[in-house]
Amino acid sequence: MTAIELEGLSKSYGNTRSPALDGVDLSIHDGEFVVLLGPSGCGKSTTLRMIAGLEQPSSGVIRFDGQVVNDLPGRERRVGMVFQNYALYPHMTVEENLSFGLRSRGETKAKTAERVAEVLAMLGLGQQGKRRPRELSGGQRQRVALGRALVGRPSVFLMDEPLSNLDANLREQMRMEIARLHSEHGITTVYVTHDQVEALTLADRIVVMDSGKVRQVATPRELYLGPSDTFVARFIGSPGMNLLRVPLGMLEGPEHAASPVTVPAGLVPRLRGCGGGEAVIGVRPENLHLDDSSNGVGLNCRVALVEQLGTHLQVHLTLGAPLEDMALVAKVPVGRDLRRGEIVTLSFRESDIHLFDTTTGLRLAERPHEAADRSFALAGRGGAASPKQMGEVGEAC
Ligand SMILES: Nc1ncnc2c1ncn2[C@@H]1O[C@H](COP(=O)(O)OP(=O)(O)OP(=O)(O)O)[C@@H](O)[C@H]1O
Ligand SMILES: [Mg+2]
Repeated sequence: MTAIELEGLSKSYGNTRSPALDGVDLSIHDGEFVVLLGPSGCGKSTTLRMIAGLEQPSSGVIRFDGQVVNDLPGRERRVGMVFQNYALYPHMTVEENLSFGLRSRGETKAKTAERVAEVLAMLGLGQQGKRRPRELSGGQRQRVALGRALVGRPSVFLMDEPLSNLDANLREQMRMEIARLHSEHGITTVYVTHDQVEALTLADRIVVMDSGKVRQVATPRELYLGPSDTFVARFIGSPGMNLLRVPLGMLEGPEHAASPVTVPAGLVPRLRGCGGGEAVIGVRPENLHLDDSSNGVGLNCRVALVEQLGTHLQVHLTLGAPLEDMALVAKVPVGRDLRRGEIVTLSFRESDIHLFDTTTGLRLAERPHEAADRSFALAGRGGAASPKQMGEVGEAC
């Protein structure tokens, strides 16, 4: 197997103003399953194609096990690649599709047949060898594509959105198949997707990319619990984190007495580190709790929309005066009977708060796990806060 290192990797296509990839540094361990995740156009496929040797970097270095491979042709890098559209030869049978690469490398007929039979069995395609791609289902075709990448015993497995042409059930099945293949064979794998469920379930580590740059490299758990900036906070999670831009005056100092927002005293020193006299407070939708308005604590919110998602309800909320422009999303259990227009009370735990710098968008500090049991409420005291400022939050962060 192979460790891969990218150092200062950049790629510009023609005369385009901004590079497709801009100084990416990344170390992928031997046998690791790394997922490149990010919005369309952020440079995922470009990165993968450069690792495969299908594209030349404009600058930077690619190393396999410490050896620079920039000038090594793709076919000599021992990579197996799987694409979204399968890229099978339509006029060849499944067996021929799998044999082709081995035969053109000079492998004997007998050895090729043996290896092809082994891979077909490994992927549950033993009965499909004589068929052509058009006679197969989408899932079977993608299995053949996986087989074709595996048959040459690659030391690196590269996959570019391999499941996006499949329906939801098949995607889940193939996801498990890919996870099984990786755990059995331990081939270093770089997998591109913009589907965070795939990323979170498959990856040892996820590389979150945006506009040709790496935003964060972390395990799925670390990404969820400690997003390094507001982009990652919003990108990970479904829906992403609620981000509220809150003037510091609402949280401490003389204005605080009349502010509709209260925070526990322990948070105040962390908030002073924020730039621009404001803090960005982030709370995940699943960490917002809706209590009865009858208990009299917390800020009144109005239910703007309730989406029934089977496993849970997704509740869109707007805050009451003086914060009527502020919107949040909460995920709550299905049992809850909520109606549009209903007034509910919002609260969340201090340990579920994420803080970001308003200017840079960067995470401010670790979360205070020791304060896990203390509650934080947006307390409905009314007063001096500017609803406009709070209202701009969602858009601005
Ligand atoms: N051959 C090319 N010529 C010119 N520009 C290109 C070429 N390939 C990619 N680009 C540009 O480079 C940027 C990154 O493209 P890339 O295909 O790597 O994105 P991606 O993250 O894989 O997106 P998607 O999720 O849509 O597949 C985009 O702005 C794209 O338009
Ligand atoms: Mg792509």
